Amino acid sequence: MKFIITAGPTREHIDPVRFLSNPSTGKMGFAVAAEAARRGHETVLVAGPVNLRTPSGVRRIDVVSARDMLAAVKNEVIDGAVFVGVAAVADFRPKVSFDKKQKKSVMTGELKLVRNPDILKSLKSVPITRVGFAAETNDVLAEASRKCREKNLKFIVANDVLAKGSGFGVSTNRVTFVYPDGSLKKFPLMSKRRVAERILDEIDRA
Ligand code: CTP
Repeated sequence: MKFIITAGPTREHIDPVRFLSNPSTGKMGFAVAAEAARRGHETVLVAGPVNLRTPSGVRRIDVVSARDMLAAVKNEVIDGAVFVGVAAVADFRPKVSFDKKQKKSVMTGELKLVRNPDILKSLKSVPITRVGFAAETNDVLAEASRKCREKNLKFIVANDVLAKGSGFGVSTNRVTFVYPDGSLKKFPLMSKRRVAERILDEIDRA
């Protein structure tokens, strides 16, 4: 099967020296890509700016912004593929961005933002298998369940990014798989590699 996986943050530039982003380091997405490739799947990893080595057997496409990520994903998606959205995509970008550094003397201190495209949602009607992640800080399972239905996913991997051992930057994660019918599969604290194995088991089971 062909797997397309997004990982890491996106950066939304204001000018060449300033951007909006988030603390994602890409570890979870890279672990999913490594595991897909290890199982012999054709694996494409669309990565935002991260500081990680490309896993063996993985074709990596580096991108910066959410719109770049969407274009790269659309270019790779084929019928029957599996898409796993692990990236922490920035939901907004500056309405205006500049090619040259803006001097603070001319900046007003106010920034107008516009919504970025939702990559996962834009693939809603494409005949592929979709798996998402839900990064939450409260109402974790209810929010994950809503996203699973709204984005038409096979399942969503919910994680509380404030819980000990979970979230950005660490090598472990405590996740729950949430299905469209509202059922749950809870896992203990595991390495991100083990979480990736469980995700691949679940996809391969179909
Ligand atoms: N996602 C995406 N494109 C976006 C935002 C999110 O593809 N512009 C994907 C993420 O990769 C993840 C899932 O959608 O698989 C859920 O992301 P999350 O940030 O938890 O939720 P949002 O949809 O952004 O919703 P909210 O900001 O309301 O929590």
